[in-house]
Amino acid sequence: MKYTSYFIVTKLRITFANEKSNIIKMNKTIFITGASTGIGKATAIYFAEQGWNVAATMRTVSKGADLAKYPNVKVWPLDVMQTESIQSAIDQSIAHFGGIDVMFNNAGYALVGAFEAMSDAQLRKQFDTNVFGVMNVTRAILPYFRAKKGGTIINTTSMGGIITFPLYSVYHSTKWALEGFMESLQFELRSHNIKIKNIEPSAINTDFDNAIEFVSIPAYDGYAVRAHQNMLESYKQAPGPLVVAKKVWKAANDNNFRLRYPVGGLGPLLIVMRKFLPLAWFTGLVRLATEKGTH
Ligand SMILES: NC(=O)c1ccc[n+]([C@@H]2O[C@H](COP(=O)([O-])OP(=O)(O)OC[C@H]3O[C@@H](n4cnc5c(N)ncnc54)[C@H](OP(=O)(O)O)[C@@H]3O)[C@@H](O)[C@H]2O)c1
Repeated sequence: MKYTSYFIVTKLRITFANEKSNIIKMNKTIFITGASTGIGKATAIYFAEQGWNVAATMRTVSKGADLAKYPNVKVWPLDVMQTESIQSAIDQSIAHFGGIDVMFNNAGYALVGAFEAMSDAQLRKQFDTNVFGVMNVTRAILPYFRAKKGGTIINTTSMGGIITFPLYSVYHSTKWALEGFMESLQFELRSHNIKIKNIEPSAINTDFDNAIEFVSIPAYDGYAVRAHQNMLESYKQAPGPLVVAKKVWKAANDNNFRLRYPVGGLGPLLIVMRKFLPLAWFTGLVRLATEKGTH
């Protein structure tokens, strides 16, 4: 009922707005979480430049100054752990742009290091952000997509939702949880014409200080510090976030129910190798690539 009246009111608003300006058109709208930096920001810019409306949401709106320069981008505050901020940003986006076509669950970070060194608070924050945050946003958009009889939910999971590397045990467990959650959720949503798409980037060169929280204790330092450095080196040689933005664009526009979109560097190949090689061979290769200089 709430969203049915939205459709009537916003249709009137758009007709009126179109007569007054060129800013709000019947263009499609993507709603992005974690748009302040990295993959979220690159996706916001890419979609804006293709003519979509972009609801660029972030915890700290002052980080969105670059994005706010685009006439078809609006920046709203949203913390995936605060449900009121999610509903408020969704409502504002629908009211301003006349709708939402794609929900892009992108916000997240990686808690990395020796598991024994991680506090309960750190573990819970990792799951609250990467798993429950995505569930919060997904649950908030579903009534609207059902009323609209369609919509697309795109998630930045990770190649780390399919395969694993050293020191990322907790991060992997959040992304594996998302892969399982979304793979199952697609069944019940299909009858409502709601598509689910998981973008699975390999290493992407974004801001590590923002994206990664590293912890260790002396007993693990000989292994963890060196292996972490090895992996950071591979991030530095990785492609930038534009390659992921283009994959999100493909997923948003291909109009089918394909679930998985691996992207970036060797990631798609590694996923295939993980599927077909014996696990011991695959983990042996991972050790060779990541454990140089440890022990
Ligand atoms: N970079 C990679 O190699 C890679 C590979 C695979 C998957 N991913 C995934 O890609 C996504 C984006 O990561 P990125 O590499 O672009 O890192 P990033 O540049 O650090 O971007 C992460 C974004 O998530 C936001 N965020 C963190 N906690 C949040 C919360 N509670 N509520 C709302 N927003 C929150 C950050 O906001 P603040 O600016 O406020 O911190 C930032 O906008 C993540 O889900 C990550 O796991 C990254």
